[in-house]
Amino acid sequence: MPDRRAFLRRAVALAAAGFLTPGLARANARPKFAADPFSLGVASGSPAANGFVLWTRLAPAPLDGGGLGPESIEVRWEIAHDEKFSRIARRGTATAEASRAHAVHVEADGLDPARWYYYRFLAGGEASAAGRARTAPLPGAGDERLRLALASCQHYEQGYFVAHRHLADDAPDLVAFVGDYIYESSRRGNKVREHRHPEPRTLAGYRDRYAQYKSDADLQAAHACAPWIVTWDDHEVANDYARDRGQDLDPDFLARRAAGYRAFFEHLPVRPSALRADGEYRLYGAHAWGSLANLFVLDDRQYRAHQACPRPSRGGSNVVGTDCLERTREGRTMLGEAQERWLDGALAGSKSRWNLVAQQTLVAPAGRPTGKGVQYWTDGWDGYPGARARLLRSLAVSGAANPVVLGGDVHANYVANLHARPGEADSPVLAAEFCGTSISSLGPSPKLVASIREANPHILYADGSLRGYAMLDVDRERLEARFRVLDSVARTDAGVSTAATFTVRAGRPGVAA
Ligand SMILES: [Fe+2]
Repeated sequence: MPDRRAFLRRAVALAAAGFLTPGLARANARPKFAADPFSLGVASGSPAANGFVLWTRLAPAPLDGGGLGPESIEVRWEIAHDEKFSRIARRGTATAEASRAHAVHVEADGLDPARWYYYRFLAGGEASAAGRARTAPLPGAGDERLRLALASCQHYEQGYFVAHRHLADDAPDLVAFVGDYIYESSRRGNKVREHRHPEPRTLAGYRDRYAQYKSDADLQAAHACAPWIVTWDDHEVANDYARDRGQDLDPDFLARRAAGYRAFFEHLPVRPSALRADGEYRLYGAHAWGSLANLFVLDDRQYRAHQACPRPSRGGSNVVGTDCLERTREGRTMLGEAQERWLDGALAGSKSRWNLVAQQTLVAPAGRPTGKGVQYWTDGWDGYPGARARLLRSLAVSGAANPVVLGGDVHANYVANLHARPGEADSPVLAAEFCGTSISSLGPSPKLVASIREANPHILYADGSLRGYAMLDVDRERLEARFRVLDSVARTDAGVSTAATFTVRAGRPGVAA
């Protein structure tokens, strides 16, 4: 019975990872908490037409390991039509287990399409704050709109998360977060507040780091306002790692990565099916918003080839010239073969009016002119030009309507046209690209950004001086992107304004003049 054996092997692997609910130990339905167990807020994610994921984590002492013992705790959840929870749409119970840091992921279904709901959790005598989540429209329902927020890169020490409060006030239907949800490391200077614990390397360490970030009221507000779709970048584990290699060539890197991945899962509203038996976390996938938009979320960290031409005895990124031959070697991958094949098929099969590709970083070529000729940063798509060419070919040959690429990572607002032959202005424009600035992480040098803009005419806008997020309003005829920026990241009462607005018209690839 090979199937049965394979099933058992998988069950064992999952149980070993601590994710298989044994169902033997009884959950405590009447726990007593020393303090508010819902100190980390609530969240929803991955909306479908019939439901979404709900998340919370019980942590009465969030900054000291959570503050709960080994026992499992019963958590009730409610989804209602109204803020007072008088008209309940769905309810149920879940078990918060110590092996999962008392985190709960509920996959709620049976809901109506294209509708807002309220949700909350109850445990012992305590109730969580209420969150709002909405379901996606059904395909063909017509008259659909989407307001999508794009956010990334929130270094806790380098700024307050006030951008998240403004994001919530802008009332998105959906938030796409494209990486660097936590930062593992600190930098001297420019601190408005401090990480409480040293750089995490273990599961306990990463849990503490997430707990500190998630204690932030503005971040909680952004989670409570709408469902999120998330991917990660490098800092959820360690700076500049690539697949199985850290920049310091740590021989135990895969154990560290497993700890970082698991803590990410425990703190974000992703579907439990993201966790695969072999330790893979399948974050990439397609999220349909009726027939209006497909949001393809990519993972360019977990499967990528090592960065080309690192510094001696190091992994990680470098800035290199044309003498680095490895960079341009055909076949080097950013997404991994399986994800590339999946994306080819998913784009080709998409019937959506808009096809939004949300990934971590800047896709447009961003070579830096220097005295030694043009140089390239090897951690971004410039370090993987063969993979970028395949991505763009996939966008072109799939025939997917109105592709638009979204990104983050570089802590700057960039708007670009992506050409069939990357960077060659006389080749056809395939798609517009909107890369959003950081929520709080320190920006790049203005001189560098200006020189990149100057040397790359397909980059239409570039500004790394301000922190914030982007708001995209999409209907059948157009996509409008607004870059929302803060007056200051060092004040909790900072205001927000729109730095620039760009439009893409359906049927006309690229940014409208
Ligand atoms: Fe970042």
